[in-house]
Amino acid sequence: MQIRELITEDEIDKKVRALAQQISAEYAGKSLKLICILKGASFFACDLAKRITVPVYLDFMACSSYGDSTVSSGDIRIKKDLDAPVTGEHVLIVEDIIDSGQTLYYLKKELSVRGAADIRICTLLDKPTRRVADVRADYTGFVIPDCFVVGYGLDYAQRYRNLPYIGIVDIEER
Ligand code: IMP
Ligand code: MG
Repeated sequence: MQIRELITEDEIDKKVRALAQQISAEYAGKSLKLICILKGASFFACDLAKRITVPVYLDFMACSSYGDSTVSSGDIRIKKDLDAPVTGEHVLIVEDIIDSGQTLYYLKKELSVRGAADIRICTLLDKPTRRVADVRADYTGFVIPDCFVVGYGLDYAQRYRNLPYIGIVDIEER
C-alpha cells in the first residue's frame, strides 16, 4: 500500500502551536477540560496540551463507529467513558478528524446532557465534503480533501498511527 505525504511533521508542529496559542487566549482566566477522543486524537491532544498555557485537565474517551472499515456505520458507541463528570466545566473535545460528523454530533449532545458549562471542538483535520451530521469545529488545523489519511495518531485498521506526518493512503474500498 502506498502512502503519500500530505502534511509534514513541521507543518503539524507549527499548526499545533498556533491552535494552542489561540485556545490559551480565548480561555484566559478559565481552566479547561480537554477530552481526548481515543485513539486517533492521542498524539494531537498531548502535543496541544503541552502548548496550552491555561490550566488543563485531561480526560479520555473512546468511541466506535468504523470497526476496521473506512466508512462510518453511523452507529456510535462509547467504548471507554470519561473518568470524571463534566458538570459545569469548560469542555474542549479534541478529535483527530471530522468526517461524516456523526461521532462529534453524538458526543456533543451527550456531554451537553451531562451538564458541561460549554462545549467546543478542536479538530486537527476536517473533511467537510463528507459531512452528514451538522457539526462544526471551533478550532481546525487543516481542511483536507476527501481522501483517507493516516499518521500522527490516525490509523488504517490500527496501522500507521506512529507515522510522524499525515499521509494519504490509496484504498480501493472508497
Ligand atoms: P465521523 O463520525 O464520520 O466524523 O468519524 C470520525 C472518526 O472516523 C475519526 O475520529 C477517525 O477515527 C475516523 N476517520 C475518519 N476519517 C478518517 C481518515 O481519513 N483516516 C483515519 N481515520 C478516519
Ligand atoms: Mg477517531
